[in-house]
Amino acid sequence: MNEMTDLETAIELLKQNKVIAIPTETVYGLAANALNDHAVTEIFAIKNRPYFDPLIVHISDIKQVEKYANSFPKKAEKLANAFWPGPLTLILPKNKIISDLVTSGLAYVGLRVPNHPLTLQLLSKLDFPLAAPSANPFGYVSPTSAQHVKDQLGKRVSFILDGGSCEVGLESTIVMFEDDEPVVLRLGGLSIESIETCIGKVKINISSHSKPNSPGQLDKHYATRTPLKYKDELDFTQLNTTRIGAIVFEKTLSFISRENQEVLSPNSSVKEAARNLFAAMRRLDALNLDLIVTEKFPEFGLGSAINDRLNRARG
Ligand code: TXA
Ligand code: MG
Repeated sequence: MNEMTDLETAIELLKQNKVIAIPTETVYGLAANALNDHAVTEIFAIKNRPYFDPLIVHISDIKQVEKYANSFPKKAEKLANAFWPGPLTLILPKNKIISDLVTSGLAYVGLRVPNHPLTLQLLSKLDFPLAAPSANPFGYVSPTSAQHVKDQLGKRVSFILDGGSCEVGLESTIVMFEDDEPVVLRLGGLSIESIETCIGKVKINISSHSKPNSPGQLDKHYATRTPLKYKDELDFTQLNTTRIGAIVFEKTLSFISRENQEVLSPNSSVKEAARNLFAAMRRLDALNLDLIVTEKFPEFGLGSAINDRLNRARG
């Protein structure tokens, strides 16, 4: 009897409308057949996700867009050609094949071609797209390794396709279009600079609302259980520093013990820092300290998206 490869197992389970975890270049996803409402309902249940928060639909290549979207604005197509597969989600007018459950009743669907060799193979072998939110309990930090998924959802997910650590480490950048003009709804793994080099100036609307366009905009999100604050807002003489952890860019803080610190990029690369951010948040959270302190990262490239995630984790 032949042993099934992991990829074959994944295909088999997805065809049975089961939920599995899949690797992408950004973060791990909790994936199921996007065209089957029963399978999609199971994703919401496992993640404990409110139904008002729509799911991104993952497709194998740009040619699939016309199957699920009614129109493809010029600038959206230009971005897709330039950056797919990659950390970019395009919000496009949905057609009827995509159910209201996936889009939370919105007339738009988020589409993305993820850039991970295993998951691209997987998508090319299925005749349906995959709905997949990040594979974490709602509100918590996204997983960037199979172990992260196992730690929190291992009991609830039937299978985790292990594709190693995520290369990018931050969720995709989300772009919608108002009369063909691009609006960024979530900063992420594709920098604003890269987008603007491709299609010119874009509007950015990532402010949080009680009923957000994109629940990634919710104030408190991507959060650790341990409270997180910026070091500049604290008076350390009043605090027990042995119970404090730190997430820093390039060098350690002198007043906090080394083992409670995560230096995200000793070489001062915001890209490397982005890749390490979520694992660092999880490691410090597991120490059950009183507080995690952090600092502002450089406001360019992925540094802006790192600052966005830290702001939201701080709440
Ligand atoms: O990198 C990523 O985007 C990862 C990987 C797995 O692909 N996925 C991810 O999914 O981060 P999730 O569900 O954790 O975050 C997706 C965000 C949500 O904030 C959701 O509201 C927004 O995308 N979104 C999805 N469909 C949308 C739509 N039709 N209109 C507006 N926002 C949408
Ligand atoms: Mg998420």
